[in-house]
Amino acid sequence: MSAPNNPYKGLLLCSFLAILQCISAEVGKLVCFYDAKSFVREGPAQMSLAELEPALQFCNFLVYGYAGIDAETYKIKSLDPSLTHDHQHYRHITALRQKFPHVRFLLSVGGDRDLDSEGVADTGKYLRLLEQPEHRRSFQASVIAELKNNGFDGLDLAWQFPKNKPKVQQGVFKRVWGSVRGWFSSPSVDEKAEEHREQFATLLGELQSDLRRSGQLLTVTMLPHVSAELFIDVPKVLGHVDFVNLGTYDFQSPERDPKVADLPAPLYAMYDRDPSHNVQYQVQYWMNQTSEISAHKLHVGVASYGRAWNMTRNSGITGYPPIPAANGAAPAGRQTVTPGLLSWPETCDLLQQQPQDREVPHLRKVGDPTKRFGIYAYRAADDQGENGLWVGYEDPTTAAIKAGFVQAQGLGGVAFHDLSLDDFRGQCAGEKFPILRSIKYKL
Ligand SMILES: *[C@@H]1O[C@H](CO)[C@@H](O)[C@H](O)[C@H]1NC(C)=O
Ligand SMILES: *[C@@H]1O[C@H](CO)[C@@H](O)[C@H](O)[C@H]1NC(C)=O
Repeated sequence: MSAPNNPYKGLLLCSFLAILQCISAEVGKLVCFYDAKSFVREGPAQMSLAELEPALQFCNFLVYGYAGIDAETYKIKSLDPSLTHDHQHYRHITALRQKFPHVRFLLSVGGDRDLDSEGVADTGKYLRLLEQPEHRRSFQASVIAELKNNGFDGLDLAWQFPKNKPKVQQGVFKRVWGSVRGWFSSPSVDEKAEEHREQFATLLGELQSDLRRSGQLLTVTMLPHVSAELFIDVPKVLGHVDFVNLGTYDFQSPERDPKVADLPAPLYAMYDRDPSHNVQYQVQYWMNQTSEISAHKLHVGVASYGRAWNMTRNSGITGYPPIPAANGAAPAGRQTVTPGLLSWPETCDLLQQQPQDREVPHLRKVGDPTKRFGIYAYRAADDQGENGLWVGYEDPTTAAIKAGFVQAQGLGGVAFHDLSLDDFRGQCAGEKFPILRSIKYKL
C-alpha cells in the first residue's frame, strides 16, 4: 500500500507529475449530508441556517437531502414544495457559498425519503425510470434545470433500489447466512436486477455528459442494504461519477431487526454475523471490482446517531451484543422524537444525566479497546421487565477511528450522515459539531 500518511508524497506527485491530476487533492474529503427536515422539525431538534453555518468550515461538500421523483413525469421534484419554492430553501442553502466558497453544494435524489402512499420508500418508480429512455431523458432535462435554477454544483443519486431482506430465521442465534453470494442474490428482491444494473450505468453515462458540459458534479450515494452486487456495475459507475458514498452504517437497526440489538456499524467483521455487515467488507467489495486508482473515489459513510432497542428480562444482564429478545425500538429521544434513533447529543445527555435515585439502574457505557467494532451503552431491564435500553452509537472517538481507516486504505474520504444529528449546539461538551470536527482532524 502507498504511504498516505506521508505529507510530502502528495507534494511530489503534484510537482513532478504536473500533467496528471494532482492525486493528493482527491483524498481527505468530507461530504456532509444535510437533512432539510431538520429545518422544519418542531422543537429543540430544529436546526436553523445560523446553527448549520459553523459546520461548513469542515465540509468539502454539502449534500442537500432530499429531492424526489414525480411518478407520472419522472421529473425531479421537491419533497417539500412550500419549503423549497415559496421559502426558497434550496437557494438559501446554496447562497451559503458566499461565506464558504470552498464548499460545493449537491442536490441529492431519493435517500429513502421519497415515499409511496403507504409511507414506505418507493422503489418502483426508481426502477421504472431506468427502464425507459424517454423517462431518463425527462429526468435529465428536469435535473439540469433544477440545479441551474437553484444554484447547485451537482447532483447526487441516493437511488432507491430494493433492499436486501433481513436474514433472520427462527431463534436469535439460528441465523442462516448461506454463502455470501446467496445473501446478495436473494431472488425476491428484484427479478430484473441485471437489466436495472445496466440501465443505471446508462443513466449515469447520460447524466455525466450533460453535467460535465456545465461543469457540474455527479455522485452516487449507496443506501444501506442496497446490494452493489445486484445493482452496480462498479467499473462503469466509478467511470461516470466524481465519487461514491458507501452505505456503511445501519447494518443493524430496530426497524430491520426489532428482536436483536447489535452494533449498527462495525468497522471489521464480527464473529457469527453476516460477513458483509461491516465497513471493511463493503469497501473491499468495491476495491475488488476496480483498479486501485479509483480508491480515492470511495467515501465511507459514518453516522452521527445511535440505534436503540428496548431490552427485556430475557435479554440478559451483561449487555454484550448481540442482545436476544429485544423488544423493538427504544423510546424516542426528547429532541429528535424518533423511536429507536438517538442523536449524539441525546445519547450524550442520557450518559451524563444519570438518575439521582440509586435504585434506578444507570446506563452503562461499554468502550471498544480493539477499535474494531464500535461502542454501546445499556441498562438491563428491571425486575418488572421495564426500563431496559441498549444503544449502539458513534462518538467523536469512534468516528475518528473510521476516518483513520479511510486514510490508511487510501480512500477518498468520509460521508457524514448527518449534520443535524451531531451536537450542533455544543450542549454535550461545549463544542459544536464534535463528531464532524473529530473526523476532519483525522482526515
Ligand atoms: C476480494 O478479493 C479477494 C481475493 O480475490 C477475496 O478473497 C475476497 O473475498 C474479496 N472480498 C470481497 C468483499 O469481495
Ligand atoms: C420500550 O420501552 C418503553 C418503556 O421503557 C415503552 O414505553 C415502549 O412501548 C417500549 N417499546 C416497544 C416497542 O415495546
